Amino acid sequence: MKDQQFKRTLITTALPYANGPVHIGHLAGVYVPADIYARYLRLRGRDCLLIGGSDEHGVPIALKAKAEGCSPQEVVDRYHNIIKKSFEGLGISFDIYSRTTSEMHRQTASEFFRKLYEKGEFVEQTSEQYYDEEAKQFLADRYITGTCPHCSNERAYGDQCEACGTSLNATDLINPRSAISGSAPVLRETKHWYLPLDKHEAFLKEWILEGHKEWKSNVYGQCKSWLDMGLQPRAVSRDLDWGIPVPVEGAEGKVLYVWFDAPIGYISNTKELCPETWETWWKSEDTRLLHFIGKDNIVFHCIVFPAMLRAEGSFILPENVPANEFLNLEGDKISTSRNWAVWLHEYLEEFPGKQDVLRYVLTANAPETKDNDFTWRDFQARNNNELVAIFGNFVNRALVLTHKYFEGVVPSRGELTDYDRQTIEEFAAVKATLEHQLETFHFREALKEAMNLARIGNKYLADTEPWKLAKTDMPRVASILNLALQITANLAIAFEPFLPFSATKLMAMLSVEAPFGWDRLGSTDLLPEGHRLGTPELLFEKLEDNVIEAQIQKLQATKKANEQAAHRAEPIAAPIDFEDFLKLDIRVGTVLECEKVPKADKLLRFRIDDGLGGRTIVSGIAKHYQPEELVGKQVCFIANLPPRKLKGIDSEGMILSAEGADGALKVVMPSADVAPGSQVK
Ligand code: MF3
Ligand code: ZN
Repeated sequence: MKDQQFKRTLITTALPYANGPVHIGHLAGVYVPADIYARYLRLRGRDCLLIGGSDEHGVPIALKAKAEGCSPQEVVDRYHNIIKKSFEGLGISFDIYSRTTSEMHRQTASEFFRKLYEKGEFVEQTSEQYYDEEAKQFLADRYITGTCPHCSNERAYGDQCEACGTSLNATDLINPRSAISGSAPVLRETKHWYLPLDKHEAFLKEWILEGHKEWKSNVYGQCKSWLDMGLQPRAVSRDLDWGIPVPVEGAEGKVLYVWFDAPIGYISNTKELCPETWETWWKSEDTRLLHFIGKDNIVFHCIVFPAMLRAEGSFILPENVPANEFLNLEGDKISTSRNWAVWLHEYLEEFPGKQDVLRYVLTANAPETKDNDFTWRDFQARNNNELVAIFGNFVNRALVLTHKYFEGVVPSRGELTDYDRQTIEEFAAVKATLEHQLETFHFREALKEAMNLARIGNKYLADTEPWKLAKTDMPRVASILNLALQITANLAIAFEPFLPFSATKLMAMLSVEAPFGWDRLGSTDLLPEGHRLGTPELLFEKLEDNVIEAQIQKLQATKKANEQAAHRAEPIAAPIDFEDFLKLDIRVGTVLECEKVPKADKLLRFRIDDGLGGRTIVSGIAKHYQPEELVGKQVCFIANLPPRKLKGIDSEGMILSAEGADGALKVVMPSADVAPGSQVK
């Protein structure tokens, strides 16, 4: 295998933005698989580092600070601490978790830029960008709002319209406004440094498309489509006051683009961890560099960062980038701004001691090849039917039976039966399969294989039924339990990368001090005869419906709050003159007749007593009322609109109704009856 030529593995994990806590989407996509892999390598005695840290620059953080009236540093301090602590809580075994506002990082990123600058690897280009004359600063695309040219949404951003999903340039917006001062921005010339990716295109094509056909197909495919489109120079600086200052003269008010400095954070953090030996990790051909990321980061890690590293000249390039797709939550895209997420720090508080349940479910459902869905029902089912019923149940039976019949001492194994031999063969085969799945980053399959070991054990006890032999054949009972205990000890090895808390607990129950090491996986002599076991405890416990219900309800409350917020956020229309208001003639009428309009599922036809001989109005509220509910009621309508034909009926006015948070329409009525034809003022 190719990886044999590498002496050490450097594993990086995408640096999460410190503008919010970490959620299950981050975990399933990046941190849980990276941690599994690092733990696996360590268990095999391979040299490896797991590097993490917070990404603390960029416009969203600056914007958040502005919105909260605090400094960007305060924002990132807050979230960096939450994120770091919650990763620890879940057992993500970073060798270092640092941050991009560190002094080490400022230095490293500045030096990196200087080196490229001095080597002439950048091109300088002047372009026109929006400038806020009141705030006296250039505006990042996110700082500009205006009307979307595609869908007329009046709150589109300069980089994207969130209503129709189109990516935009700030100059596409109709009626652009600065998010800082509200004034209309003007175009001004500004100079920036660009990394000419086009210059590296031929190399990247060869390196990825020819040299790395083994990359996951989602990663390879995305790279190929970028490369096929042709690469353009990319700006590596921005006009912004939050970030690392561009370290050249005449660059006042300019900082490094966040996507330039962030990946350099991997280097800074390695340096901080290993001030003496960091270069071995980054500059030596026998180091294998792996980037664990989500799919939205592929282009930066497979194309832009490698181009930066190559331009610099002394660094190695990634050997693989096992990027994952996205995890959804209960059928909807996870979103920090909409609070549609399961937050890690909240999970750890609400499910104390259940870190491994989350690790298990996220791995079993990992979005490795396609987007996947997390649901609380599935979480419960996997816990109850797999962790409790298979893994926990087997371990508990093996230990409790040993305590019952042999006072907790490992009994001796007698002659093996054919069935024993078959079982031993089956579980010895697990090691090779597991290794293959792990080495190729198929963590879901690997977890299945580890679980298979517990299944083998469960089946072995169910088939041999030692509890039935206790009266007649104690030597056979001893033999069976010995083998069952060996399988139990194997589970402590196989599950260490996936469920480290349970593996540790299991070792304590087996009264084993030092981990066995990966190489002994599959062997039948892990626990010597006569070894005294510890006290058995339950490894996992059943999750009851009410606990799961509570989580589902929490999400429903979020959904409701979002719907209401969406309505509250409806901007007030542009001001009008009082004369404009007087032009509207709003009247009260009594409903004489009301019926559904045939072949129109939204429309109701009203006959109204308007005090002036009556009129007909067609209104689009059929989804919200049964016609008979409204007969005899008084409604308000606009009386002086020109008639409009709806489904062949002349509609002489509009009935007023209020739209509730959930979109339900409620007809507006006077609080007491008034004479038909009364004016509303
Ligand atoms: N902060 C980025 C994100 O959450 C990831 C940065 S990865 C980096 O999408 F290390 F390259 F910075
Ligand atoms: Zn739009």
